[in-house]
Amino acid sequence: MRFYVPSDIYVEKNCVANHKKDIIAMGSRAFIVTGRHSARINGSLEDVTSALTDGDIPYEIFDEVEENPSVETIVRAARIGKEFQADYVIGIGGGSPIDAAKAIALLIANPEEDGSCLYEARKLDYLPIIAIPTTCGTGSEATPVSVLTNHAKKIKKSIPYKIFPALSLVDGKYLASAKKSLIVNTAVDALAHMVESYLNSKSNLYNRLFPEYGLRLWAENKEALLSEDPLNESQYELLMLVSTIAGMAIAHTGTGLPHGMSYDLTYHYHVPHGPACGYFLGAYMEVCSRHCPDDVRKILDLLEMKDLDEFSAYIRSLIGTFEIDEKTKESFVSAMEHNESKLSAAPCTVTPEDVRFIYDKSLISKPLE
Ligand SMILES: [Fe+2]
Repeated sequence: MRFYVPSDIYVEKNCVANHKKDIIAMGSRAFIVTGRHSARINGSLEDVTSALTDGDIPYEIFDEVEENPSVETIVRAARIGKEFQADYVIGIGGGSPIDAAKAIALLIANPEEDGSCLYEARKLDYLPIIAIPTTCGTGSEATPVSVLTNHAKKIKKSIPYKIFPALSLVDGKYLASAKKSLIVNTAVDALAHMVESYLNSKSNLYNRLFPEYGLRLWAENKEALLSEDPLNESQYELLMLVSTIAGMAIAHTGTGLPHGMSYDLTYHYHVPHGPACGYFLGAYMEVCSRHCPDDVRKILDLLEMKDLDEFSAYIRSLIGTFEIDEKTKESFVSAMEHNESKLSAAPCTVTPEDVRFIYDKSLISKPLE
């Protein structure tokens, strides 16, 4: 059993300002990678740029990372970062900018490479990365994972490099300006990370510390997530902390079938990542419960839920349902039946019938038009 998260992670109020010295000490030219709007609205971009200005660190901002960042965006950003001669990268935002920052840091550090190296398992260096999450789901600040969309191959997939941030600064205050729906969606992603890490072939007594603790904390916000009311400061802090803990969980085990199944919904139907995973969680747990009922029982106990029906009903109230036509569902089923990497992440044998069961139970069949 091994614990390995080689990122310096701070979770606290005013985290960026508190660690100004660490931000300045990371290098001499910073390349900031973020999305178009939210980092400006929630104050995280200003916190970072004022720290860099105070330290006389020149910086360049690339603020064009889209949701589910594409290889094309990564290549374009890396070109700008190379021209700027950046020697470290700061990713600010949800999973998309932070995952993008990792891939961009890899390309800048290897100027002779083009985007094709991103999907080749090679030994390549990368620039140091600072991760500043502003949503409560990705956990990318504590994982080596970078998920990119490859339009040429029509897939959304993790690149095969393990790129941990050098420094992660986590502050719940950045959630205060986020829409409630975004908070709910990303919190469901964190939930999926913990469930899929717990019900995983790589799960063991040691790395279960993370989902066991995180699920219990997640349950504390269960009703608040469901309610129409806005969340308060301590709830923002707790959600952000849980997201980082959930990241630590998948840093050790990887994700499982629900994440594998989610990518098609996101790629083809633009379903946000959290719900795309969340739709499959109940049925995945049901399949696992046939083989390891005690583990599923444990998850339900940590979440303070009496059975899988209550779990599924709760998730439905939170994120609704998704309709799909039979033909498309069939194509997803046949692809997933051969997805060895995700099938082998399950703690039990998942048969083709189990895969079909998960799709059938999780997605509503759309009547033919
Ligand atoms: Fe995820």
